[in-house]
Amino acid sequence: MSGETVKLQLGGLEVELPILVGTEGERVIEIDKLRAMTGYITLDDGYANTGSTTSEITYLDGEKGILRYRGYPIEEIAERCDFTETAYLLIYGELPTAEELETFRKSIRARSLLHEGMKTIFAGFPPDAHPMAILSAVVGALAIYCRDSLDPADPRQREVAIFRMLAKMPTIAAFSYKQSIGQPFIYSQNKLSYCQNFLQMMFAVPSERYEPDPDFVHALNLLLILHADHGQNCSTSTVRMVGSSTVNLFSSVSAGICALWGALHGGANEACINMLEAIHADNDNLGKYIDLAKDPNDDYRLMGFGHRVYKNYDPRAKIIKEVCHGLLEKHSREDPIFELAQELEEVALSDPYFIERRLYPNVDFYSGIIYKIIGIPKQMFTVLFALGRLPGWIAHWREMHLAPGGMRIHRPRQLYTGSAQRKFVPLIKR
Ligand code: CMC
Repeated sequence: MSGETVKLQLGGLEVELPILVGTEGERVIEIDKLRAMTGYITLDDGYANTGSTTSEITYLDGEKGILRYRGYPIEEIAERCDFTETAYLLIYGELPTAEELETFRKSIRARSLLHEGMKTIFAGFPPDAHPMAILSAVVGALAIYCRDSLDPADPRQREVAIFRMLAKMPTIAAFSYKQSIGQPFIYSQNKLSYCQNFLQMMFAVPSERYEPDPDFVHALNLLLILHADHGQNCSTSTVRMVGSSTVNLFSSVSAGICALWGALHGGANEACINMLEAIHADNDNLGKYIDLAKDPNDDYRLMGFGHRVYKNYDPRAKIIKEVCHGLLEKHSREDPIFELAQELEEVALSDPYFIERRLYPNVDFYSGIIYKIIGIPKQMFTVLFALGRLPGWIAHWREMHLAPGGMRIHRPRQLYTGSAQRKFVPLIKR
């Protein structure tokens, strides 16, 4: 607390509300006593101006294009850490020592297998089931198979749930893909890194040796790091919201996966490739779609452009853009979808409509293209986003449970605008 207050006059009442100041000088008015003091609540559609919590995990400044995990700039983390190290930093707040990191890796590796009974869950899904629906369902089912790590108030159970979640999510994601193409499940190998392991579980078959391409491992590692946390976004807020009822980590993450699936959030990377394919099928008529996106009377939007928070170039997109261009050079120059993507990027970055509204390509524009180059089918793109965001979800869930003042169930209010009290009409008279 800064000691400063703001005075608010409401009718004949004058109330004083505390001002809190964040590490980077952000100033917020604390209103949690406002209703008790005045009878008023505040209304903020889409929570565009509402801080739902204090948090020590991620700092982002959308105006300046800054993103930091636990104080470290994303550019440095992306260059110097691997995904598991980043996960440790986000969850526990400090960069690990070599010993801490090795113990963390071992704790994850040791838990990557799924209970054999869980295979029957996959078998019950139709082959065309969307992997995000499978991921959410099977992660939810971990609460059935991991009943000795459901109590978030028990420190040991909390830690085991975190290891299990990090270990089993790639296995579940890869199994959902294998199930959809009718191939046998491939188990994890402890000698491989997190990203190598995921690629081999996705693409290896028992009859052949598989060596993941180091360029792909590098790009995947980078993408997972860049997606690992982003403050109180829709899915993270969902994990906090659900977790605030004191439900276990698996159920909270399962809900977060559902929130991520939507096209305005994590679903944008898949929607972006769908959009490029639709434009290609329409004779590569890019101009038509750019005009549609600019038409105030049409809802059409260019997927992979714009961001609620970044009104400057998304720092994650800046990092991944170079990797994307490098992979395009080396691996897939011929694909018309990639040519179209490059053309769209150039046109949108020079068109006044996008410049004035500061609609830059976001991280999902480039991630969709990279996943396509790696050979990941597009319905798996958002699953990859979920894998990346997992440490962030866990970090927020853990932070909430360890909050010094204790945890409070999330329970927003509303402004009721429906009918006033009415007289009930019996069915026979309607
Ligand atoms: N294409 C065309 N016009 C756009 C777009 C777009 N992608 N995004 C915003 N606009 C226009 C919008 O029509 C509005 O114009 P005007 O001022 O003339 O009415 C102006 O830009 C501001 O838009 P907004 O809807 O107020 O912006 P928002 O902050 O509510 O929405 C967004 C942010 C990400 C939902 C939106 O930009 C969008 O729909 N983008 C496409 C979907 C997408 O790529 N989502 C992934 C976001 S990054 C991953 C993540 O963090 O989840």
